[in-house]
Formats: sequence, C-alpha cells, structure tokens
Amino acid sequence: MSDPAALFLTRPDDWHVHVRDGEMLRRVVPATARQFARAIIMPNLVPPVATTELARQYRERILAAVPSGASFEPLMTLYLTENMSPDEVAEAKASGMVHGVKWYPAGATTHSQFGVENISRCDAVVAAMEEHDLPLLVHAETPEFDVDVFDREAVFIDRHLVPLVARFPRLRLVVEHLTTRHGVQFVRDASARVAGTITVHHLLLNRNALFAGGLRPHSFCLPVLKREEHRLALVEAATGGNPRYFLGTDSAPHRRRDKEAACGCAGVFTAHAAIELYAEVFESAGALERLDAFASFHGPDFYGLPRNTQRIRLEKHPWRVPDCLGNGDDAIVPFRAGELVKWRLVVEERSAPARVPSESTARFQCRQEPSS
Ligand code: DOR
Ligand code: ZN
Repeated sequence: MSDPAALFLTRPDDWHVHVRDGEMLRRVVPATARQFARAIIMPNLVPPVATTELARQYRERILAAVPSGASFEPLMTLYLTENMSPDEVAEAKASGMVHGVKWYPAGATTHSQFGVENISRCDAVVAAMEEHDLPLLVHAETPEFDVDVFDREAVFIDRHLVPLVARFPRLRLVVEHLTTRHGVQFVRDASARVAGTITVHHLLLNRNALFAGGLRPHSFCLPVLKREEHRLALVEAATGGNPRYFLGTDSAPHRRRDKEAACGCAGVFTAHAAIELYAEVFESAGALERLDAFASFHGPDFYGLPRNTQRIRLEKHPWRVPDCLGNGDDAIVPFRAGELVKWRLVVEERSAPARVPSESTARFQCRQEPSS
C-alpha cells in the first residue's frame, strides 16, 4: 500500500469519548457521529452517570443531538463510586445499553471527585462485573501528589492493576488511554481479558508539545503526554496488529476559557478529525493496512459486539483545521487548530446511504460558526 490516494475502511468506533452535556453536547456529538458508528461514552458528568437510569436518560440526550440522517449508537458506561451496589451491575448488564463501568481514582482527573479512594471497597461490585462479564474501564493513574506526574500510570499499574487482575482473573479490563511503555507491556503480557485504548494525540505528540515555544494548554491532557520513547511504544502497539489494542480518542472538549486559564482543564478535542489523524499515524509507520483492524475490529471483538459493515473512504486531500469551533471564550480549540490534516473523510459507501451524513452536512458541523 505505497502512497495510496484513497483508503477504504470499515466504519470505525470510538471506544472512549467525552461528549459532555447540554449545549456542549449538542456541539460535539455531530463530530463523533460523523466518523464513528458507535462510541463508548464517558460518564464523568456532574453529577456523575452512576446508575443505569441516569445512563438511559443521558443516552436519550445524546441521541437527540445526532444529526438527522446519521446513524450513531452511544454505548453507555456507569461511573464507579464506592456506594455502587452489585445489583446496579446486574441492572446495567440487563439493560443492554450499558457496556462498562468506569473507575476514576478520586482526584486523578476531570470530575473524578466522586470516584474511588480505595478499590477494595468495591470488591463486591467488581465481583459482580466479573460474574456478569461487564468490563471495567480504568483511568490508570494514581492521584497521589508525591508521585511524579509522569510516573503515575506506571505506579498505578503496579500498585493497583497487577493485584486486581490477580484477584479477578475473569474480569474484562480496559486500560484507557495508554501513555507509557509500561502500560503497553502490562496489556500485552496480561490475559486476553485485558485490553487498552490508545488516543491519537498520544500517538502524535510527546511531552515536548506542552512547552513548544511557550506553555501549550491545548496539548494538556491526562494522563499527560510522555517522553518520545513512550510515544514510540504506543505507535508500535497500535500499528502492530495485536487485537488487545484499539482506538479510543479520549476526545475531551473544554471551553477555551477553561483551557487558557491559570489552572487549565485537561483534555484535547480530536473528534473533528480523529480517523484522519489516526490514518496519518498509521501511514507514517508504514502500517495503513492495519488501521482497519485497530479502528474497527479489535474493539467490537473485545466488547463482544458485532463489527460494523458500513464502509468509509478517506482521501489524501489535505485540509486546514479551523482555528476554533464556535466563538470567543466559549469556543473549542480543536487539535491541530489552523494546521493541515493530510487525510480527509469523504463519503460513506452505499451499504446504508440513508444513515450517514452527506459530506457537506458533516463538514458544516465542524466548521467555525457562530455558536447558537
Ligand atoms: O484529558 C483528560 N480529559 N483526561 C481525562 O481523564 C478526563 C478528560 C475530561 O473529561 O476532560
Ligand atoms: Zn477520558
């Protein structure tokens, strides 16, 4: 596949995304729905999506924001709290629309204050997840202040995940947004019930991006970007064909004023160009033929869901990302703002023409435009 001008892929899914709520939700859902058939929706709202009933209501709000003519299935998750009961796990699984429970260590990231201080207090819930085969999705970073921020993933894995998988060997576990060689190795060496998602910003950037000519708040996310050696380990994992690694953007929109602040929020918005950016990574690694599996097969296989059958087409047609989406302080500054993206998602194939947005509709959703 040397320097192709076009690329056909099975329509991908995003196995980790934040779409927020309210006005922000209405602004960002179209970008995800344009590219992805399904997405695992993170539950870190305030208050958190901690029950099946709240997930059901949130799902309805997401569906209401999907542009008409588009097909998009939100795959809901619950926010793990120390108060969750094992019955909630049974109810979540029986609902058919909840596909995981998210473990945020309390204090580790955005809206994690409702999260878990001591995972052993959740033993009965984790046992129920193992029994019902409902995956545990983990933000694998220790929040401890005395642990260096660049070591927090590795320390968390050693202190918490190694013991957890030993105690619950049948638990399905997804280590979200891997950022280190250590994380990649943990997944690779664990049982087939352990997988990891990889974001496109961690594949494209190393920690130098945070300080390129000055402080760069729009490259700040958690887990924070790491050294080049870790980025290379992620690229090797993503492009290597191992089914235990799959696409999860962790696209996390924040308003410009909340990013460009004295204490700026963590999160990078990539939903406007995610699959195109992943294509850049795979192309640079000489592995474009493996993008389909990473983006479209490994995730559903792990979650026990059918693979998508629709197709999408990417063209080698550089386009410039807008400087911002929306206006003023409320704008979202997208990844690669003002710069070129090499690949362009063009049009979806004939198999389900009524269910996908036209190119013009899709592009409109991502253009700079007055916020309503
Ligand atoms: O960068 C991040 N942003 N990492 C997270 O874990 C949460 C996310 C958000 O919700 O903003
Ligand atoms: Zn996230």
